[in-house]
Amino acid sequence: MSTYLSGIQPSGLPHLGNYFGAIEQHIRLPGQGGEHFYFIADYHALTTSRDAAELRANVRETAVTYLALGLDVERATLFRQSHVPEVCELTWLLASVTGMGVLERAVSYKEKVQKGIAASVGLFLYPGLMASDILAYDSHLVPVGADQVQHVEIARDMASAFNAVYGEVFVLPQAVMSKHTKVPGLDGEKMSKSYGNTIWVFETGKALKKLVGRITTDSRGPEEPKDPAGLLLFDFLRLFLTPAEFEEWAARVRAGGVDAPGYGHLKQRLIEGIEERFAPARKRREELLADPAEVDRILARGAERARERAVRTRDRALRACGLR
Ligand code: TRP
Repeated sequence: MSTYLSGIQPSGLPHLGNYFGAIEQHIRLPGQGGEHFYFIADYHALTTSRDAAELRANVRETAVTYLALGLDVERATLFRQSHVPEVCELTWLLASVTGMGVLERAVSYKEKVQKGIAASVGLFLYPGLMASDILAYDSHLVPVGADQVQHVEIARDMASAFNAVYGEVFVLPQAVMSKHTKVPGLDGEKMSKSYGNTIWVFETGKALKKLVGRITTDSRGPEEPKDPAGLLLFDFLRLFLTPAEFEEWAARVRAGGVDAPGYGHLKQRLIEGIEERFAPARKRREELLADPAEVDRILARGAERARERAVRTRDRALRACGLR
């Protein structure tokens, strides 16, 4: 039986990029068998967060989002990373056998520093903590977006380095990429909080209309035949329409003429698609926000299950390297 594990950073209101890049598959995969661990990476969040109240709120929002969107907590263990402190211990054991070059090659570190994030030791060691997350649960498969694939490779490298010295202690993990690897933002760049081009998954009404209105289009009129492949709006529609309906709209745009829909019309369909997709989850979110004790219970139960596994792995690693 394969063990799946993934983490998501609690960075505010989850957006469509988070959903299609990660959350959607975390919710779908447990229905297909295997063992599943999904956690809120609150230790990792400390590399950028400086506001305790905000971090606390973001952790809750992330948990509520997973539950509202339908994560089945009987089949998947949902927990907070910091409820399993053994991962910090493992990070040290792994760091002690890992060459500097392994982390120096990490692209995300350089990108984050370039974006203005403080170049802390924690930020540099970020992939090391992530390796511990993955290895602590003997994970085989790690479902992530494209930007995290290098980190999973680093986890393999760190596991191999430890195993080479102390024997077969860690399972070597592999990344599983989501099918929608890149969700565009409103401006056509990758959707990302730091670019200010996101749509919150539960956005509705006027606020949603305003955001969809920002999706970049051009000045060509509806009657002019166009290739939908070159239109950002269609990259969004693809995420929300059935393939049959998507093809219908595409054919009308390709044909042009008096029957062709204009950009405003297509945006209206997109708004409906987003609202419809998330309507039931939006309702569950409200219910969960009104019952914080229930969310806390779920996270506590998850932490208990996760911790049991992590303690076993940690003990194995301690014994192997002579600390037990
Ligand atoms: N770094 C991941 C991200 O930013 C989150 C994460 C932390 C993670 N630990 C992990 C993902 C372990 C997969 C496995 O999205």
